[in-house]
Amino acid sequence: MSSNSIQTDLSGKVAVVTGGSGVIGGAFCRALAESGAKVAVLGRKAENGAPVVKAIEAAGGEAQSFACNVLDRASIEAAREAVLAGFGRVDILVNCAGGVVSPATIPQDQLADLEPGMASFFTVEPEQIHKELDLNLYGTILPTQVFGPALVEAKGCVVNISSMGAYGPLTRIPGYSGAKAAISNFTEWAANYFARSGVRVNAIAPGFFQTTQNHALQFDAEGSPTPRTAKILAGTPMGRFGQVEELTGALLFLVNEQAASFVTGCILPVDGGFHCYLGV
Ligand SMILES: NC(=O)c1ccc[n+]([C@@H]2O[C@H](COP(=O)([O-])OP(=O)(O)OC[C@H]3O[C@@H](n4cnc5c(N)ncnc54)[C@H](O)[C@@H]3O)[C@@H](O)[C@H]2O)c1
Repeated sequence: MSSNSIQTDLSGKVAVVTGGSGVIGGAFCRALAESGAKVAVLGRKAENGAPVVKAIEAAGGEAQSFACNVLDRASIEAAREAVLAGFGRVDILVNCAGGVVSPATIPQDQLADLEPGMASFFTVEPEQIHKELDLNLYGTILPTQVFGPALVEAKGCVVNISSMGAYGPLTRIPGYSGAKAAISNFTEWAANYFARSGVRVNAIAPGFFQTTQNHALQFDAEGSPTPRTAKILAGTPMGRFGQVEELTGALLFLVNEQAASFVTGCILPVDGGFHCYLGV
């Protein structure tokens, strides 16, 4: 009996998840496997995906981990060849690698809050912002290019991961917000480009979840919520953080070729209402 929130039969399908060793990527891998897909768990090192593979196998599913740096075309091509050799096809690509690059984070919301000795927008190294744009935007475009032909052959689908930063910039993380806005835009572009080839391209825009990569922004060294956390919760009409498992229903809907057969270019927010609430 599946514990997934939505029934999607993916038997015979192969799903590739970049960043599959991460918190959200891992949950996506488990949900796809539980729905019957064979899952290729991609991480910067193959061993990073081992715990996810182990959990899937323990639950009776099939998965294998592969090394794949989403910023390196040769590495993605090698991963594609290994996935095709192991599983024979690719039906689903989930571009989940990404996130905030900490040294690109601006320490204050506004310039007026700058205190002596503090780093600021003026001192952050541009290379770090570049890195953040690369990881999120090119880390989505490149795997879509490389796995694209296999997806066309299988008449498969792509799911990208956007963010609330795509609807309007989040304070402190201009590089991340810009990259996620570009991911939403690329999702719409690719939806059109692939439309008549039978490949659907959609995105999920998660709201705020308590995961490792945003922990430093949400909690201080003592583990107490930061003022930013209070603002996030005040800005979320449902008044709470999301649970990572609450993202899997959106994924299983978007990859379901019957339920979502006419759905492409959609950015699906899973955010407790954050994206549509201006605070008054
Ligand atoms: N956590 C949240 O609240 C939240 C909100 C909105 C969007 N997201 C997005 O969800 C996705 C997953 O985030 P998460 O919270 O699970 O973070 P995470 O850090 O647990 O997962 C990110 C994964 O990407 C991998 N990665 C980083 N650089 C890579 C590279 N060059 N090549 C291959 N893999 C690489 C990391 O190793 C990690 O496994 C990200 O795109 C993130 O921006 C997260």
